[in-house]
Amino acid sequence: MKILITGAHGQLGKQLEKRLKSSHTVISLGKQELDITKKAESEKIFFQIKPQLVLHAAAFTDVDQCEIDPQKAFEVNGIATGYIAQAANKVDARMFYISSDYVFDGNKKAPYREADEPNPQSTYGMSKWLGEKLVQKFNNGTIVRTSWLYGHDGKNFVKTMLNLAEKQKKIKVVNDQIGSPTYVNDLVETVAQLIEKRNGIYHVSNSGSCTWFEFSKVIFEEAGYNPEFVLPISTEEFGAIAPRPSYSVLGHDALIRETLNIPRPWKEALKEFIRKENSQ
Ligand SMILES: NC(=O)c1ccc[n+]([C@@H]2O[C@H](COP(=O)([O-])OP(=O)(O)OC[C@H]3O[C@@H](n4cnc5c(N)ncnc54)[C@H](OP(=O)(O)O)[C@@H]3O)[C@@H](O)[C@H]2O)c1
Repeated sequence: MKILITGAHGQLGKQLEKRLKSSHTVISLGKQELDITKKAESEKIFFQIKPQLVLHAAAFTDVDQCEIDPQKAFEVNGIATGYIAQAANKVDARMFYISSDYVFDGNKKAPYREADEPNPQSTYGMSKWLGEKLVQKFNNGTIVRTSWLYGHDGKNFVKTMLNLAEKQKKIKVVNDQIGSPTYVNDLVETVAQLIEKRNGIYHVSNSGSCTWFEFSKVIFEEAGYNPEFVLPISTEEFGAIAPRPSYSVLGHDALIRETLNIPRPWKEALKEFIRKENSQ
């Protein structure tokens, strides 16, 4: 199958290319080659390549920066996703859009189901939800919502913690937001399997849940650092610019319905990530 990946240099885009290039013809384009906010140019590229499947991983992912620059957030995550969905439609390509747990408000106390109504609290969450709606309007493709993503390429929470751990200074980490960390390799494995399944909304995250504080302690422990350097703090005390859901655990009903494996527990995935990071 001919697959076009957007956001090729992001942590997800890179891993998608690595995983899929042995079994498919993969054309992976970064912002330089395919700026998704340029509608006409994007469409031209789609007509040149004529992909059968588009994996849309390009996004403006800095949640606090989205609050500062909402116009860019809506342009990139929302409106430009609409351009990609329309271009994919014109060349008869199926489309996968990667969305986020931050489309939910966090008021639930049990894992969010695919059918639960989004109610984003941040600009980032709203812009991702707009992207979802435009994909549904123009392409009827697949929406994959994931959460707390980390991998070997690019910036992410686990890498930040590992860098801070080396400095051996006390750090304060939020202990009242609960979610599910997701190793990008596991997300990509599931996406590869979803290519064979029908379109719809799928929640894909490692199983189990924790707070950012609990996650940090396990990162420190697994990497051989002293977890006593990590101290709990509340969301209010931390004072981030963007609001975040206090609970955004994703349930895996759609994966179960399609008889797909649920990604392994997050601690197991983290262990493998750290082992691979250390051997690089
Ligand atoms: N990271 C998470 O915790 C998380 C959680 C839930 C869902 N997601 C979703 O998962 C997907 C992948 O995230 P990720 O962690 O791989 O993000 P990432 O590492 O930030 O990658 C996103 C890529 O998109 C590119 N991009 C930005 N604006 C673009 C534009 N106008 N045209 C083309 N490319 C553009 C970025 O390039 P520049 O860096 O050069 O701007 C970057 O290479 C995103 O849809 C994100 O919303 C992420």
